Amino acid sequence: MIRLTTLLENTATGGIFRAEHGFSVFVETDNGSFLFDTGQTDAFIHNARILKIDLSRVEKVVLSHGHYDHAGGLSYLSELTKPVVCAHPEIFRERYYQSGNDLRYIGIEKREFYEEKGVQFVLYDRPKEIVKGVYTTGFEEMRTDFEKVDKNFVYKVSGEYRKDDVVDDMSLVLQTKRGLFIVFGCAHRGIINIIRQAEEQFGRKVFGFIGGTHLGPADDTQKERTIEELKKMDIEIIGQSHCTGLLMAAQLYCEFKDKVVFNNVGSVIELD
Ligand SMILES: [Fe+2]
Ligand SMILES: [Fe+2]
Repeated sequence: MIRLTTLLENTATGGIFRAEHGFSVFVETDNGSFLFDTGQTDAFIHNARILKIDLSRVEKVVLSHGHYDHAGGLSYLSELTKPVVCAHPEIFRERYYQSGNDLRYIGIEKREFYEEKGVQFVLYDRPKEIVKGVYTTGFEEMRTDFEKVDKNFVYKVSGEYRKDDVVDDMSLVLQTKRGLFIVFGCAHRGIINIIRQAEEQFGRKVFGFIGGTHLGPADDTQKERTIEELKKMDIEIIGQSHCTGLLMAAQLYCEFKDKVVFNNVGSVIELD
């Protein structure tokens, strides 16, 4: 049994959940459970209570990357539990969204801030098994010629701003009887790159995914080519979330119809 419950996403229906720009999924398997991302505030904790998921028992958290909308909730979680956080070593970059002369901070707190709250970090850039049958991708190679990291991302190092290629972006790969299933955080390095890498690493086909695709802010070429590639791959579950955006979600629905899942707060996907 594998159950993926989305605790936080940009959209919630029914009026009892909280929604915000961000993402968080509770992953349960026969071999253990853990949290993937934490949204930006305590909203995911509010939603977990409604869904009767006890986050005070969480021992492991995987952070997909060091952006505020995925890691911001970690300080709220540390009031309930003292988890071990698995992530890439570059999650603590001082990062900004640059638009014209404006710089908006989009990074996370410093490592010491969380460690003082009792959080421990295990940082690595290679694939890692989190619980039996569930892995992180490790560093994601840029393979396609049409997928690009958001050009508005920069980070500050030694007093200067450099382009941020979000080298810390990692996704989850789940081994199931049907094949591989992927959970993206934001997929900043491109969903086709990530799917191909997972297929190569594990020697099996990917049949579905949930999570942020970052296709919302992508250029038209990346959107069109991604749709073409998804058609060739014959993906059966397209569980778009978060930074896919409503317009791109609508476009995916027109292209893929009932393969599309609007994966919002409270969505549950069961595999195996
Ligand atoms: Fe995001
Ligand atoms: Fe992000």
